[in-house]
Amino acid sequence: MRRRTVLKVLGLGLGGATVLGGGGLGAYYLTARQDTVGKIAFDAALPIPPLATSETGASGARVFALDVRAGETRFKDGPATRTWGVNGTHLGPTIRARRGDRVEFAVRNGLDQETSLHWHGMHLPAAMDGGPHQTVPAGGTWEPRWTIDQPAATLWYHPHVHGATADHLYRGLTGLFIVDDEVTEALDLPSEYGVDDVPMIVQDRAFDGDNQFEQRVPLGGSLGVIGDEILVNGAIGPYFDVTTRLVRLRLLNGSNARLYNFGFSDDRRFSLVATDGGLLAEPWETDRLSLSPGERAEVVVAFTPGERVELRSYPSEHGGALGRLDGFDDRLDVCQFRAAGSLSDDSALPAVLGTAPDLAGAAVARERSFVLASDQINGRSMAMDRIDFGVREGTVEVWEVTNDNGFPHNFHVHDVRFQVLSVDGGTPEPPLCGWKDTVLLVQGKRYRLAMRFSDHTDPNVPYMYHCHLLQHEDEGMMGQFVVLGDGEEVGVVPKEHQHS
Ligand code: C2O
Ligand code: CU
Ligand code: CU
Repeated sequence: MRRRTVLKVLGLGLGGATVLGGGGLGAYYLTARQDTVGKIAFDAALPIPPLATSETGASGARVFALDVRAGETRFKDGPATRTWGVNGTHLGPTIRARRGDRVEFAVRNGLDQETSLHWHGMHLPAAMDGGPHQTVPAGGTWEPRWTIDQPAATLWYHPHVHGATADHLYRGLTGLFIVDDEVTEALDLPSEYGVDDVPMIVQDRAFDGDNQFEQRVPLGGSLGVIGDEILVNGAIGPYFDVTTRLVRLRLLNGSNARLYNFGFSDDRRFSLVATDGGLLAEPWETDRLSLSPGERAEVVVAFTPGERVELRSYPSEHGGALGRLDGFDDRLDVCQFRAAGSLSDDSALPAVLGTAPDLAGAAVARERSFVLASDQINGRSMAMDRIDFGVREGTVEVWEVTNDNGFPHNFHVHDVRFQVLSVDGGTPEPPLCGWKDTVLLVQGKRYRLAMRFSDHTDPNVPYMYHCHLLQHEDEGMMGQFVVLGDGEEVGVVPKEHQHS
């Protein structure tokens, strides 16, 4: 049952009085805006996901064991919540590896249904990607391996079962995957994990009367589940004890659908230092930063001794006329920062960070265009056995992506980082000037994305591109491409992968 389609129809009724009656509808629209400022207790310390441990395998690779399982987690007074987790009952450990590391995983699926773990943002062979073609059956094990070969960045992992990604992620399967390299290590940026380099997995959840996660789609909503409680690393309304003047936050929008427009309660400025694919060329100072589902940002914030300040999500202008129903007008407190009476001060905000994306002048082998509308891309729904196209190893392509209907979407590409060359012909805003793998598509605007496809050719096993609003992805707003070596042609998806 496509709930959203029905709700969309109701949403269209908002202009008239036919659906719920005039007064009721107006009142519903007005109360659809949420504001939790001043209502959050901030009585739980921010949990820091543990770092995943690894062993050295026979081949010299680092071997990580990841057990996916069901369990119960206590988020609030009353009954515990049924959740899923990796090496625990909810969320998963932070995996950390350096460029050049060979990594191997033993992913054990202890659930009673198939799932997968996809390494979002990772450059790796398609067969190791953990997408819909690499599902792990209930009780099964999957052992992907690859060599980390990309610049330092904050990546993440989550399930990617076609048609069930939203559900599996919502139940709690989410973790960070931090890649390190010599460039970031040589910088003076705050880098002590959990102390001044703080992971923040931001997710919204709705709870029912028994404290169970409820997949509530707002009446008239167009994006899927929107929760009214904000969790950071699995805690509702946490606080963080600040002990250093500068703190780096690694923010992940790990929500199914909600867009965040982050800022601080006193509107202080902070510096964006990295986006999805790694460091910016230089810090960009701002007081607001918008992240759509799947996007990450590293920011550096300065604190003064003894102060308290909240990280908040402010209303966003990107929702369109009915955006309120999808939470775009909400104001939500996310996390309180409590600075100690004296703060150590031994990191810095370097003036120069990484290298800017350099694809603007590259020779372009091929241009393609992608129009997102009605749960489809270019008029087609995802099909497991259809490879939409092949790209050539070693080439740069420019993909022009447009959101052509009345609802918000974003766009994520597996395997590569891309450079946003232009938005509607103009220079992108600074937060889109670094390497990205996921980008919000503001309705009607044209995004030109440049990406280079290198190595890992495989004519038969595809990578995905899709809207990262998970209900849209599950409903088919996704396509598949393969990377082809010299002389190779688009192949056929192996039979065992063609189900669902
Ligand atoms: Cu975050 Cu196709 O994935
Ligand atoms: Cu991905
Ligand atoms: Cu979408």
